[in-house]
Amino acid sequence: MASSKRILEVSNLQTRFLTDNGVVKAVDGVSFHIDQGETLAVVGESGSGKSVTSLSIMRLLEAPHGRIAGGSVLFEGADLVQKTEREMRRVRGNDISMIFQEPMTSLNPVYTVGAQIAESIRIHQHKSHQEAMKRAVEMLDLVGISEPARRANTYPHQMSGGMRQRVMIAIALSCNPKLLIADEPTTALDVTIQAQILELMQQLQREIGMSILFITHDLGVVAEIADRVVVMYAGRAVEEGSVLDIFARPRMPYTAGLMNSIPRIDRAAARQERLQAIVGNVPSPFSLPQGCSFHPRCGFMQDRCTAAVPPLDDSGGGHMVRCIRWDELDLRQQRRSA
Ligand SMILES: Nc1ncnc2c1ncn2[C@@H]1O[C@H](COP(=O)(O)OP(=O)(O)OP(=O)(O)O)[C@@H](O)[C@H]1O
Ligand SMILES: [Mg+2]
Repeated sequence: MASSKRILEVSNLQTRFLTDNGVVKAVDGVSFHIDQGETLAVVGESGSGKSVTSLSIMRLLEAPHGRIAGGSVLFEGADLVQKTEREMRRVRGNDISMIFQEPMTSLNPVYTVGAQIAESIRIHQHKSHQEAMKRAVEMLDLVGISEPARRANTYPHQMSGGMRQRVMIAIALSCNPKLLIADEPTTALDVTIQAQILELMQQLQREIGMSILFITHDLGVVAEIADRVVVMYAGRAVEEGSVLDIFARPRMPYTAGLMNSIPRIDRAAARQERLQAIVGNVPSPFSLPQGCSFHPRCGFMQDRCTAAVPPLDDSGGGHMVRCIRWDELDLRQQRRSA
């Protein structure tokens, strides 16, 4: 069970990119927290700012174009935004580890995968070379790679994409992080392996009290592993609540739309598709709509929705909603009819 110790507190995070076409406010005032042992899922369509949020926490934005323009990221009470690069290197892969959306970019092509996992174990768990190699093989086995002892001696390019992703997961988990940030970690994997990996994460969570920030477009996975959910749209959090609140009582029309995009069993093959069941597209970051960013796609839009960005209101019990009409809408109706 989640204890109440706050491990991460993100407040009013603002992340910008300077591009040839202007400034992109990829993350515009996002706040959330994660307690020890808790799993927070971040969901939203492509381009909503999920990856940039996680890269900001890890301070892995590409300078000078990408930068944190405001806000704070308290990890165990210390602000990561204020830390030097050297201090951040100690945090990364030690206290916080991350599984990236693009696995190939983060494995070193010139070392065997076994050596790369062992190196991470050796550094973070102070084990001997031999012990670390043994543990690396165990980790490969844990993430579902067959013939782990042999595979440990292969190089990243000799593996399939799915296998490389599992190696990345093994590396991220091998240092027993306090916080694991997983950015769509299982999207490329088949359903059986995906279930295995989720189980492995949850097992580690029980064993070491790890917290997880889980980014995904798969609401089935959210229901399975998350305690709480943050829904993002166009760089902002638009709804936040417990899994139960979000699934049973979505209060923002956007969230209700996402729920409609959950594939039914007869559409199981569509499970891996991106979320896009809502009419229209995510707005261009260069020309966000006035007022509520979602209003051009919203079936409940009124003139007043275009006046100002709605505040993120507490609709009761910490169920946060960014919609000025949340208390007058019956979104269950919309869910049934879709
Ligand atoms: N390096 C960059 N330079 C300029 N803009 C960027 C950069 N990285 C991200 N963005 C922009 O920031 C916004 C948020 O992107 P982000 O990658 O966080 O989306 P996402 O929610 O992770 O989407 P997906 O589900 O496709 O992974 C998008 O508008 C994107 O185009
Ligand atoms: Mg992403």
